Amino acid sequence: MTAASTYPPERLEQARDDFLRRYPDYAGTSAVDELRARDYARLERLGHTYLDYTGGGLYAESQIRRHYELLRDHILGNPHSGNPTSLASAALVHQARASVRRFFNASAVDYEVIFTANASGALKLVGESYPFRPGGVFCLTYDNHNSVNGIREFAHVKGATITYVPVREADLRVDEEQLQTVLRGTRTAEDRLFAYPAQSNFSGVHHPLAWVDEAHELGWDVLLDCAAYAPTNPIDLEVLKPDFVPISFYKLFGYPTGVGCLIARREKLAKLRRPWFAGGTITLASVQAEDWYRLAPGATGFEDGTLDYLSLPAITIGLEHLATVGVPTIHRRVSALAGWFLEEARRLRHTNGAPLLKVFGPQDMDRRGATIALYIVNPQGHAYDVYDVETAAADELISVRTGCFCNPGDGEVAHDITRAEMEACFADPTAAVTLMQCQRRIEDTTGKVPNTIRVSLGLASDFADVYRFLTFAEKYRDRRE
Ligand SMILES: Cc1ncc(COP(=O)(O)O)c(C=O)c1O
Repeated sequence: MTAASTYPPERLEQARDDFLRRYPDYAGTSAVDELRARDYARLERLGHTYLDYTGGGLYAESQIRRHYELLRDHILGNPHSGNPTSLASAALVHQARASVRRFFNASAVDYEVIFTANASGALKLVGESYPFRPGGVFCLTYDNHNSVNGIREFAHVKGATITYVPVREADLRVDEEQLQTVLRGTRTAEDRLFAYPAQSNFSGVHHPLAWVDEAHELGWDVLLDCAAYAPTNPIDLEVLKPDFVPISFYKLFGYPTGVGCLIARREKLAKLRRPWFAGGTITLASVQAEDWYRLAPGATGFEDGTLDYLSLPAITIGLEHLATVGVPTIHRRVSALAGWFLEEARRLRHTNGAPLLKVFGPQDMDRRGATIALYIVNPQGHAYDVYDVETAAADELISVRTGCFCNPGDGEVAHDITRAEMEACFADPTAAVTLMQCQRRIEDTTGKVPNTIRVSLGLASDFADVYRFLTFAEKYRDRRE
């Protein structure tokens, strides 16, 4: 006999009432419901359930309108000049930089805002310019996006030591003792860089922001990856004081893609050495001697070529939009939704009593964000094929993310993939191995399923989105492989 459905579509309103009783805080965010109806109406109109905010945020229609009107009403030229259209662009670029400072409370005294293509572009700027050398150290947590992992290549080529600090399988948090051993145990006069994410893009874990101060006191420079944290958590850089902060703006407010920034402490930016120069980054260059060029000071020396000057006004618009909604409000809202989701996920069972959902990382909202990595598992405890689940979700216009989310460290720990199992995927140095091939090989040889489903919430999320995912997941109850 099959159990009755817990999340039938017709029970949505009743379930919402129950949710509001359990999470009364959510009621205080009702302005977002009105905003969603007005500015994100396409979600309802097109029947989509969007659950991939850590992949990318959604833009409001008003952002697009304002940007269109601005472009319509201005004549904007390349800002690298002194003509009227150039000056108009330069003023808008200046305004965008000031908006970023205001939004993250990064004063012009302490911080430079460097515009890049995305967070990865910001990370590459740090990686390629950081004074790694023999005796120096690059320390990073297992839990990191590949665009942080990739910095190890620069460290490696320049002879610095690379030290990874693992996460624990139980909760995907860093073992503090191990971290302290590394941070305190590394005594060297050479430069040391410590990199970690404020929020995991895999498990949603919030790693302690206090590590910034602690690492500083021990002589480390700190790269705090805020790409996944910033969309739903307020950030005050004058309080936190990290040295390098990468951001992708589409994750905050959906539009435009192709613009990010590196927010860098001036004193630490001064120690970066760029490996090249480009148009826009110099005050002067000559072709008559190889070393005749002078890099421009501050942010300019790090912004290669022409900035995306038509998109930058949309950053000002996007940040104003976000400030109007209020990041603390978004935080309260997604925390309530994710809290309810995690509670329900624990309750959802097959008829034989086995759990239907397996969540990786923290099981409640203690020190975590609204990014949730999970499996849907069969009555015997084995994961249903993640890619089949994604396809089935897509059939219902539900957008979730699957795979490893460019975070191999959390994935390898969550799925207990051993070094030997990974080694097999890299055995032939000449063979191009895809993630899918590697995952299939591990699954075929070990039975482990090294890929994951990710549900992530953001600005426009509402109760119905989360409920619909549970309605979908429940269809797997008692289903055979
Ligand atoms: C924590 C984190 N860091 C860095 C990045 C890289 O961002 P982008 O792909 O926009 O460069 C991401 C993207 O998902 C991320 O989640």
